[in-house]
Amino acid sequence: MTESVEQMIDRLCAKIPDHPEPGVLFRDLTPLFADGDGFKRTVDSLTDAFRGQYDCVAGVEARGFMIASAVAYASGVGIVPVRKKGKLPRETISQQYDLEYGTETLEIHTDDVPRGSRVLVLDDVLATGGTLGASASLLTRAGFNVAGFGVIMELTALRGRAQLGGHRIRALLRV
Ligand code: PRP
Repeated sequence: MTESVEQMIDRLCAKIPDHPEPGVLFRDLTPLFADGDGFKRTVDSLTDAFRGQYDCVAGVEARGFMIASAVAYASGVGIVPVRKKGKLPRETISQQYDLEYGTETLEIHTDDVPRGSRVLVLDDVLATGGTLGASASLLTRAGFNVAGFGVIMELTALRGRAQLGGHRIRALLRV
């Protein structure tokens, strides 16, 4: 029987018990990124899920850059990097958000793509939703339209979807 994309991602996701602290099962997607067929099917699935609905993609530093770059290439559009604070050289806008311990700040250039562009926001994992929520706020404040969110894996227990407003979300694997 053909393995589904969902089954494939689960197979190629390494599970590390008690990392980074006791009681936490860490899910590492690097084996999926390292598998040529697995990575291609993952990229194709996210590309197909939003086909025709976006003018460019945004990728969130750092792991989101890998999936966003590939989707951008596969669909022939450009990519807006959502970067951690202090990395972008021109005019930026910033958004701070809460982490489990402390805060993080993300930034984008305000003029990398035309205002009104439909931007598909991509990352590897949706956990608490802080990262994608802050990214969407940034893109909206810059005058772009969020076309939706695509992730490889969603950790449902952390209820990140609640942070993402009414936008469409496609998570290839929900655990
Ligand atoms: C991870 C992951 C997502 C984010 C998800 O990134 O790649 O971007 O956490 O978590 P959230 O939904 O709770 O915000 P991380 O901040 O570890 O950065 P990295 O990609 O640079 O490793």
